[in-house]
Amino acid sequence: MSKGKFYITTPIYYPSGNPHIGHCYTTVACDSIARYKRMQGYDVMFLTGTDEHGQKIEQKAKELGITPKEYVDNIVEIFKKLWKYMNVDYDRYIRTTDDYHVEAVQKIFKELYDRGYIYKGEYSGNYCTPCESFWTDSQLDEDGCCPECHRPVKQAKEEAYFMKMAPFAERLEKLLTETDYLRPKTRATELVNNFIKPGLEDLCVSRNSFKWGIPVPFDQDHVVYVWVDALSNYITALGFNNDAYNDYDKFWPADVHMVAKDIMRFHAITWPAILMALDLPLPKHLAVHGWITFNGQKMSKSLGNVVDPFVLGERYGADAIRYHILREMALGADSSFSNEVMINRINTDLANGLGNLVSRTVAMVEKYFGGTLPTDREPGEFDDELIAEATALRDKVDDYVEKTQINNALAEIFKLVSRANKYIDETTPWVLGKDETKKARLATVLYNLLESIRIASTLLSAFMPSTMPLVFEQIGASGDAVSYDNAGRFGALPADVTVKKGAAIFPRIDVEKEIDELNEIVKKNAEKAQAAAQKSETKSEKPEGLALIGIDDFAKVELRTAKIVECEPVKKSKKLLKLTLDDGCGTRTVASGISEYYKPDELIGHTVIIVANLKPAKLCGVESQGMILAADCPDGGVKVIFADDIPAGSKIR
Ligand code: MSP
Repeated sequence: MSKGKFYITTPIYYPSGNPHIGHCYTTVACDSIARYKRMQGYDVMFLTGTDEHGQKIEQKAKELGITPKEYVDNIVEIFKKLWKYMNVDYDRYIRTTDDYHVEAVQKIFKELYDRGYIYKGEYSGNYCTPCESFWTDSQLDEDGCCPECHRPVKQAKEEAYFMKMAPFAERLEKLLTETDYLRPKTRATELVNNFIKPGLEDLCVSRNSFKWGIPVPFDQDHVVYVWVDALSNYITALGFNNDAYNDYDKFWPADVHMVAKDIMRFHAITWPAILMALDLPLPKHLAVHGWITFNGQKMSKSLGNVVDPFVLGERYGADAIRYHILREMALGADSSFSNEVMINRINTDLANGLGNLVSRTVAMVEKYFGGTLPTDREPGEFDDELIAEATALRDKVDDYVEKTQINNALAEIFKLVSRANKYIDETTPWVLGKDETKKARLATVLYNLLESIRIASTLLSAFMPSTMPLVFEQIGASGDAVSYDNAGRFGALPADVTVKKGAAIFPRIDVEKEIDELNEIVKKNAEKAQAAAQKSETKSEKPEGLALIGIDDFAKVELRTAKIVECEPVKKSKKLLKLTLDDGCGTRTVASGISEYYKPDELIGHTVIIVANLKPAKLCGVESQGMILAADCPDGGVKVIFADDIPAGSKIR
């Protein structure tokens, strides 16, 4: 008998590059919850997929000379391969390029328009092309660049459709502050104060500067812009407004949408507003987690700090990686990824904790009883405490899974593992084994250990689905013994259980050797990413498409040599150096974005070439009077052009 329905979703991912360990967190977390709920007897729908439209995809495909659909097809294959590799068992995979989704989104858009919530207007602002985002002045980073990718933004203006948001403000505020929709609820204040209280801005829902999107049904110059297209996936995948599926009535509203913090706003405000506008029920919970960071920064291909889950899985197994990321991330906070922490966690919890408990217990059953326990029992000290802890575990894990606090669920299970290891030290089976009169006591101790392992590993099987069956096999547990129902009680294994020793489930890792090798991989990735980024920048800056200029135009540029007399970093910037130059007529200040490539001492005393008649501009509080010339090198570096044997102030022509 089903306990009811349970619908859980991940965000749909942009297939704009290969997936990395950061993408794995939400998917593995949702998969674990879905598995747990299935085990409990719920009728589960676990949805994931890819968000395949947009300018970035269109551009990348163009660079490669293929169609956007061909481009996304390739990457979607890699995403699917990764989910298989990580043992992610989704029930449905949606691609926003699927016909049924396209049709349903067009109907949703038209419905919103017909209901008077969508109108035509004009969008203007700072636009970051790679991130396809408009940013307000206050959102830009300290260098006036995109706060996400730190590349320059451009001023852009275009005709667009907008969705009115004001009519939903009051209901949204109530949803966030008076219900338990948002998890953790502490984040409601920032949403209310930053977005709702100052007056909700209308949402831009169409674009007409690129073509790779779902056409607006009544205006072919426009395509539906990201959020109406992407968020609708949660209902179109169930058959809303389409005939491809028909389980909308069964599964909607969603029980849990899980997302990372950067898209919290769209799920906490935009999505409920769209549903309110359509008069549809709201999802029950939105669980927001932080980012997996690497050295304090979000993982991103352009930063070269992505951790490839295939590489880690090859070395330690998918389950060890699943365990590590699930155990490290607390709902609402970031979790910093480091190879050291990962390896130590695998060694401590999996190899020494669980692995050791299983192998010691099974080895003792084999050693003292030839693999099959006798049925005589003799209860003793410490048994009650262990049994009480083991039988109480399932309710605690249920509670944490219900609250989407997976790290806490795992911590509880590993408390039982530690308790059982301590029970071995307390009951000293190796001493009991030497005494013929203590056989019944020894059998009781070993049975209690096997039972504790059975309960822990049954509950763990939702989180580590490929290794727990190996534990079951070793402790002689099968069929009903490893059911959810029996995880709540002690004594499900037959009294005369037979164990079967096997290979170590989580072999111990040689910390130093592995860390050296992993660090080498990370270093190589970073170098590769930097070279690729540089290459694409140089490519996009090629004079291709630039008009030829006459000598008169060139003559308008005043190039001169100047000697660097002082140089220091600009406090508010990570990229800028402030140079004081002797240009032959006096001194001037120039801010230059080269601090990644030069230390101030390496520049002082050199003569460089400057554009002397560039209009002054203020960069991070420094008035820059001109610029110095530098070259982008093919290896990804930047080199200032030195002219040391030419006196300062010489004109270049
Ligand atoms: N396409 C949108 C989501 C639309 S949902 C209706 C999108 N895609 S994304 O691929 O850029 O990101 C998908 C999810 O992965 C986001 O929740 C994002 O925060 C998450 N992560 C990407 N990198 C991450 C980490 N390093 N750590 C944790 N989550 C990360 O946004």
